[in-house]
Amino acid sequence: MSLTIPQLDGLQGILQIPGDKSISHRALFIGAMADGLSEIHSCSNAADPLSTLSCIKQLGTRVEERDNYVLVHGKGRRGFLETLTPLDAGNSGTTMRLLSGILAGQNFPSVVLGDSSLCRRPMKRIIDPLRQMGAHIQGTEKYTAPLSIEPVERLQSIHYTLPIPSAQVKSALLFAGLFADGVTRISESSKTRDHTERMLGLQSTLQNGSNIVEVNSDMTIEGKKFFVPGDMSAAAFFLSAGLIVPESHITILNVGLNPTRRRILDIFRMMGGNIQIENERIVEGEPLGNLVVRYSDLKSNLDLSGSEIVDLIDEIPILSVTALFAEGTLRIHDAGELRAKETDRISAIVHNLRLLGCEVEEYDDGFSLEGKKKYTGALIPSYGDHRIAMAFGIAGLKIPDITIDNTECADISFPGFWQKLFSLGRT
Ligand code: S3P
Repeated sequence: MSLTIPQLDGLQGILQIPGDKSISHRALFIGAMADGLSEIHSCSNAADPLSTLSCIKQLGTRVEERDNYVLVHGKGRRGFLETLTPLDAGNSGTTMRLLSGILAGQNFPSVVLGDSSLCRRPMKRIIDPLRQMGAHIQGTEKYTAPLSIEPVERLQSIHYTLPIPSAQVKSALLFAGLFADGVTRISESSKTRDHTERMLGLQSTLQNGSNIVEVNSDMTIEGKKFFVPGDMSAAAFFLSAGLIVPESHITILNVGLNPTRRRILDIFRMMGGNIQIENERIVEGEPLGNLVVRYSDLKSNLDLSGSEIVDLIDEIPILSVTALFAEGTLRIHDAGELRAKETDRISAIVHNLRLLGCEVEEYDDGFSLEGKKKYTGALIPSYGDHRIAMAFGIAGLKIPDITIDNTECADISFPGFWQKLFSLGRT
């Protein structure tokens, strides 16, 4: 469905946002591998985590969905059952990659498939190291999904250095390490999101500038209570909206403030954004707090690269839209990974910004733009990518006549996004 975005003044309100998508996936997988019952509070009900939920159910895990929590009856990591039909990861790279780590260690065969976007995304990054661990995993000739996995008795532990920083690959290998002999050790040059480590209680150390994480296959996983904080990557759209729409004042409750995820907050503040953190605390191993955002006069003289990009990877679409309304330049490098997301996000951002009349330069690994110019509305393709749709939807609050196509793709990470956004404003 296409939506023409209304011009709203003064966004005001107090918001709950969906539970963190990355943490929700991991809580479901870890709950399914645990011995005994896990209670997952505020688990995201977006389409991506629901793909994970349906896969663990299909593998024989009993799951009860209650009002604000999910009960997962873990049967231990050897308790999964062979499925007769393929497992469907939908649009979710996290589901496919983390699940493959678990399936690689099972003594039954399996097949994992996904939608057309997911079947174009690179899987060599998990196939290669999983094969080094002794897994029998096969993709297409281009190393894409569907993935077929043959049974093994036991995997071998490895010491592996991630060629590109990726929390999905790290987590897939840590999960596979639970089915290996001995200690699996992963090294990454830039620390990626560390939710898996926190949830499994794994130690990480800094050695010669690299982040090292180890998992011992002897470890026990007991069922437990998880509390999923609000998703910073979802909050970022409302932070941006609050910053760019005059007279806005929005409070977003219980947003995850994990240091590997909060960089967007620091960047918005560096741009002059008035964002306050209230009631900061730690719940079940993850920091969180309420964010209060007010309209601000933004400036951007930002040259972002390296580990900054790793921390911001999912927020680059909304950061570029925010920079449209800030005096100065935004320059992004080292972000080639964006080309391997739900769509080629560099090309989608550049194309859409140009449609609005923004002058943009495209690089292989990023782009640059000059903000605070005159823009015009346009029909904006979302490319079926939730973050592109939502980011350009926010631009529509300021630029008249922006129509976004296929807006339902926001459900991938944020069901109810459009209603929530429009409920904050006066037309
Ligand atoms: C995620 C890791 C990131 C991120 C994705 C979620 C995760 O992907 O972009 O939205 O939950 O581990 P990569 O691991 O490919 O960088």
